[in-house]
Amino acid sequence: MGSSSGNAVPTARLKFPSFDLSSALEADNNRRMAAEDAGESFDDGEVDFEDEEADFEDGEADEDACAEPTTPLEPPSCDPPLSRHEKKYAQLTKRSRAKRAAEAVQRLASEGIKPFVVELAKGALPVELEDFDASTLPISSSGWNANPRKKLSHGLQMVWKNLEVLTSVSGLKLLRWDGERCIVLVDAHDRIIAVLGGVPHGSKGKEWQAVEAAAAAAASKCRESSTFTEAQKHGRRGDFASRTVGYGYGNGRRKPQNFRVSGKANQKAMQELLQNKAIRRISGFQNALFNTFGHKNYLEHKETNNELLRKQPELRANFPNNSFAATTFNLGPLSYSPPHMDPDNRASSWCADTTMGPFNPDRGGHLVLWDLGLVIRFPSGSTILFPSALITHSTIPIQADETRYAMIQYSSGGLF
Ligand SMILES: [Fe+2]
Repeated sequence: MGSSSGNAVPTARLKFPSFDLSSALEADNNRRMAAEDAGESFDDGEVDFEDEEADFEDGEADEDACAEPTTPLEPPSCDPPLSRHEKKYAQLTKRSRAKRAAEAVQRLASEGIKPFVVELAKGALPVELEDFDASTLPISSSGWNANPRKKLSHGLQMVWKNLEVLTSVSGLKLLRWDGERCIVLVDAHDRIIAVLGGVPHGSKGKEWQAVEAAAAAAASKCRESSTFTEAQKHGRRGDFASRTVGYGYGNGRRKPQNFRVSGKANQKAMQELLQNKAIRRISGFQNALFNTFGHKNYLEHKETNNELLRKQPELRANFPNNSFAATTFNLGPLSYSPPHMDPDNRASSWCADTTMGPFNPDRGGHLVLWDLGLVIRFPSGSTILFPSALITHSTIPIQADETRYAMIQYSSGGLF
């Protein structure tokens, strides 16, 4: 954990001057926008998917198995007779749906909110952003992803690294969060926009500090045991090594696919990281926060994952009993990002972001949520959930001799 520095958590409502995001951000999205303007599907250079070929045998594509179920199961009698393959598929789908429906009833009954997350929610402090309406966030016409065509002004592009300028001149407000207390940010209509989850209630202090230190050591070991391409070291999210594992869907792929980790040494290093106990505790806490403050959304994630894994057993979940499909590890050593959005993530959901150090959280590592007009002190070991698809966000740089890692869980909008 970073030093708390005795900063007080605000207890009154926050009120911000209007913040004109539409007149901002230019350089960050240039690459994406140029690709889109040229009519190309935009690929995120920092991640790669495994090949599809292995999943298509004898020229027979099974992509229907994961397509939206818009085709009637039993076509009208005037339609051409079904082929043997189509009949078999229809029968399997019918049985599978009936089974899923029965299982869903059981799951909903058994996955009620657990007592410890109720305690977590009881201790949360709501902070209302009176001038903000979440419905103004730039959701795409499909509803699943975001429309990334927003720009920060050239002036803000020049100062995004400077904490003092951002909080004193640009009109953004500094939220001096201690990194432990749970704060829920709500908009003018009481919608939860983001959750500053803090740390697990029963593990505050030395216990969680040890978890954070062990997770940071595991991240460091993973980086040192791995190799990275230039795109993985210098992506649009910053100049640091990163790796994404799990599965996603989008950018022209025909069905959900695993993210590729190339090379045996890299695969071994990533497996060790995913098996690390501290990393798993962080994963579990992120999952619990999602369950607590976005319960219906959480259940939808879990059911979607279960369905996908049933249809495509080749997909690999990162952690057992987890609601997120993908994890990105920012492996530093100096992980901080310029203003950007993650528009392929599910728009109506959150990403869960946990930082690791060591770094001085009063000098850098702050999470800037531009649409909310907030610069949030973000100490190592703490977790924040926010809609990374919809909100332009960045990180204040840490000092050159410091280290910052991050573990981010999320799901692609295309999976749903
Ligand atoms: Fe991001």
